Amino acid sequence: MDALIAQIQTLAHATDDAGRLNIQKALRKVQMEIQSPQDALMEFGNAVGTPNLLIAMLRLGVDIGIFRQLTKSKSPLTVQQLAEANGASISFMERVLRYLASTNMITEVAMNEYRANTITYILADPRGEGMAYHGFDVFGPIVQVMPEFFKNNQYQDITSNTDTPFQKAFNTNLSCFDWLVQHPKHFGSLQKVMTALEGAEWTVGFDLIETEARKIQSSPQSSERPFFVDVGGGHGHQCVQLGKKYPHLLGRLVLQDLSEAIDRLPPIEGVKAEAYDFFQKETITDAKFYYLRRIMHDWPDKEAAVILSNISSVMSSDARILIDEVVLPDTGAHWQATMADLSMMIAFGGKERSTQQWHSLVDLAGLRVEQIHTYVASTYTSILVLTRK
Ligand SMILES: C[S@@+](CC[C@H](N)C(=O)[O-])C[C@H]1O[C@@H](n2cnc3c(N)ncnc32)[C@H](O)[C@@H]1O
Repeated sequence: MDALIAQIQTLAHATDDAGRLNIQKALRKVQMEIQSPQDALMEFGNAVGTPNLLIAMLRLGVDIGIFRQLTKSKSPLTVQQLAEANGASISFMERVLRYLASTNMITEVAMNEYRANTITYILADPRGEGMAYHGFDVFGPIVQVMPEFFKNNQYQDITSNTDTPFQKAFNTNLSCFDWLVQHPKHFGSLQKVMTALEGAEWTVGFDLIETEARKIQSSPQSSERPFFVDVGGGHGHQCVQLGKKYPHLLGRLVLQDLSEAIDRLPPIEGVKAEAYDFFQKETITDAKFYYLRRIMHDWPDKEAAVILSNISSVMSSDARILIDEVVLPDTGAHWQATMADLSMMIAFGGKERSTQQWHSLVDLAGLRVEQIHTYVASTYTSILVLTRK
C-alpha cells in the first residue's frame, strides 16, 4: 500500500494541473467503488447537520483560530494548550481536534497532540477563512432549503435571479448580489474566495494575448490605450497576476467592480481601479481586451447578454471580450464544474454553459465566438474570445 501511495505521489508531482485533477478524479472513483454500503452511509452522515458538518467544523475552527495557532507554532500543540488559548474546555477541544484530524484538516502526532498539515495552512490563510465563512454562512442556508424549494416549484429549472433558493433561505426579495453588498462581511468573504482562485495560467499558450502583449513591449510609445479591463474583477487579483507576468503592461491595466468592492481596496500599483456597474454602458471605450472571469455564470441568459452588450456597444472593432469560464463538455463533466453549476443556480439563477449554450448567449448579445482556448483540459476551463458580428 505504501509503495502504491508513493507511486501516486510521484505521478502527481510529475504532472501538470490537468493531470493532478485527473488523478484526484480517479482516486475519488476508486474510493467510492471500494466503499461498503455502510461506509457510504457514514460518508453521507458527515454531510448531515445544518448544513454540512465538515464546513461547520471548519467555520468553528476558523472562529477560534485553531488553524492559525497550529500554523504559527514551530512544534505540535497539545489539546490543553489549544483549549487554554481559546478559553475552551479541554474535553470540548479534545473532541473538536479529534474530528478535524480524522478528516485530515490537521494532523495528530501523538495522543492529544496536533500539528498543521498542508490543508491547515490553506485554512489559516484569509482566503481559506473566507471559504469557510462563505460556504457556511451563505451557501449553507441556501443548500438547506434547496430540496423544499424545488419540491414547491415542481422541479423546474431556474431562470430568474430573484426566484431561487437564496431568497427562500434569507427571506428576501433581493437578488444575491444586491443582498451581498448590503452585508459587507459576507460580500468580503466572497471576494476572499475569488482571490484564492487567482492565476495567470489562462495566458499560457494563448497566442492572442502573448502577441498583443509583445507588440506593446516592442513599441510602448505607440499608444496609451488601456490593454486589459477586468470587468467585475473583484479585488484586482487577475490584474496583479497579469502585471507579474508582463510588467510592461502595468499602467495599462484597469479593474472595474461595484463601488462596494472598489472603495475598500488599497491602491494597486500599475492598476487603475474604478467603480462601474456592468448593467450600465461600459465607460472605457478604447481598451484592447475586456476580461470577464466567473461573471457570466453568475447570471441568467437575459442579464448575461445585457452585460456583454454594454461592452460590445462601445468597444472598437479590433477590441475583444475575453470570457474566462468553463465550457461544459457534452459528457464527463468534472465535479468542480457540476458543483459550480448547481451553486450558481441556487444562489444567483446562473449556470455553467455548454458550447451550444455559449453560442446562443453570445449571439443574443450581437457577438460571435472567434476562438476557444481551453487551458485546463480536465475541467474545460477556457477563454472564449468574442468579437462583434
Ligand atoms: C464571482 S465574482 C468574480 C470576481 C472575479 N472576476 C474573479 O474571477 O475572481 C463576481 C464579481 O462580480 C461583481 N459584480 C456583481 N455585480 C456587479 C455589477 N452590477 N457591476 C460590476 N460588478 C459586479 C462582484 O462584486 C464580484 O466581484
